[in-house]
Amino acid sequence: MKTINIGILGYGVVGAGVAKLLKQKKQLLESRTGAVLNLKTIADIDTATNRGIDLGTTALVSDANVVMDDPAIDIVVETIGGETIAREFILKSLENKKHVVTANKALLASFGNDLVTAARKNQVDLAFEASVGGCMPVIKFLRESLVANDIKSMSAILNGTCNYILTKISKDGSDFEDALRKAQELGYAEAEPSLDIDGFDTAHKLAILNSLAHGMEINLKDIYVEGIRNITPKDIEFAKDFGYIIKLLAIGKIHEDYVEARVHPTMISSSNPLSHVDGSMNAIAIDADATGQTILYGHGAGMMPTASAVLSDIADIARNIISGIKRRVPILGYPEDNIKSIPILPMEELYTKYYLRFEAQDHPGVLAKISGILGENNISIKSVHQKGRKSNGKVPIVMITHTAREAGVQHALKQISKTDSVVGRPVVIRIEEIAEE
Ligand code: HSE
Repeated sequence: MKTINIGILGYGVVGAGVAKLLKQKKQLLESRTGAVLNLKTIADIDTATNRGIDLGTTALVSDANVVMDDPAIDIVVETIGGETIAREFILKSLENKKHVVTANKALLASFGNDLVTAARKNQVDLAFEASVGGCMPVIKFLRESLVANDIKSMSAILNGTCNYILTKISKDGSDFEDALRKAQELGYAEAEPSLDIDGFDTAHKLAILNSLAHGMEINLKDIYVEGIRNITPKDIEFAKDFGYIIKLLAIGKIHEDYVEARVHPTMISSSNPLSHVDGSMNAIAIDADATGQTILYGHGAGMMPTASAVLSDIADIARNIISGIKRRVPILGYPEDNIKSIPILPMEELYTKYYLRFEAQDHPGVLAKISGILGENNISIKSVHQKGRKSNGKVPIVMITHTAREAGVQHALKQISKTDSVVGRPVVIRIEEIAEE
């Protein structure tokens, strides 16, 4: 049986999960791939901490070059994370003709196009199933299973930390800080929590998915990103009254000559399956023309689900190697020469429905003033409610609009904020109608 040698760079949670699976599932992996997947070397600056894994003959070293320069190593697994050393190490590994497997969504979102070019130049594979949606096979699904489909739209819950926080606030009335702390304790959160709660981690993942779905260059910088910091229990409660649940969604849609790519708190119907995705779970609804809607649901983070996805990439590459082939499936789902640069719709041009909440003075004429400004900006109101109790002379006024243009909504909200009819900043949450079949 052929032996495929593997090196791991980064012996943290995910790296240790990969090592654990390679050891524990040795027989299963051999019988499924027809190859011996030998974990030859692990490199990490910390070689002292006991991760509780019996490494057997695997070397644990502090110098990454021992992995990258080893001519016997076929596959390098990068589980360091971040955009600096990881980038340097992946580029060096590719230059040294190693196939690379990574879970590094931040790096792929920012420098993925360069990494793809480097992999092409060196005629090796670059695989990243674990970068989006943990154990859910969404990369393979977009790249391979949907090969005969035009992908119309994707709506996805891709950040376990945010979903956990929103679920906690919604179900047990926790406050934001407590829910975040709990998510950190449970190990879902990024080292820097802003990556999660300000939506950037979700945007990284959407940049990757959009590229695979539409054959476009990875484009992070034009994705609109808004996180969940300003979501209050009050809005979650009001949303329920209107039949909506608030989720941090990644939304990607194809139009004639542009795509929509946005990440923001979103109200979705409580009858939509995504509204039932609770806690740290992730889900992706993909609407494609031949398949209709498919929903993937699973653990989007955590040691073993993420390691499982890394192993699926390792097995793919090992199978290629024993078949004497490489680069069988294009890295971004389309041969590099067919990758296009498709513009992302500027957010101001978006048309959608909106939930608006104002803390309004309880005076005659206030509602007329607010709705007058909305009308002047071509925003048609579907329903208006005065919600909750009066406090300090203010009452919450909540509106649901018909489809309106984002630029008009933002302009109107600025004008309304300047009047003495309201106090504080109005709350705006976009509403998304997701196909359900
Ligand atoms: N911080 C991420 C999350 C981990 O909360 O989902 C997986 O990318």
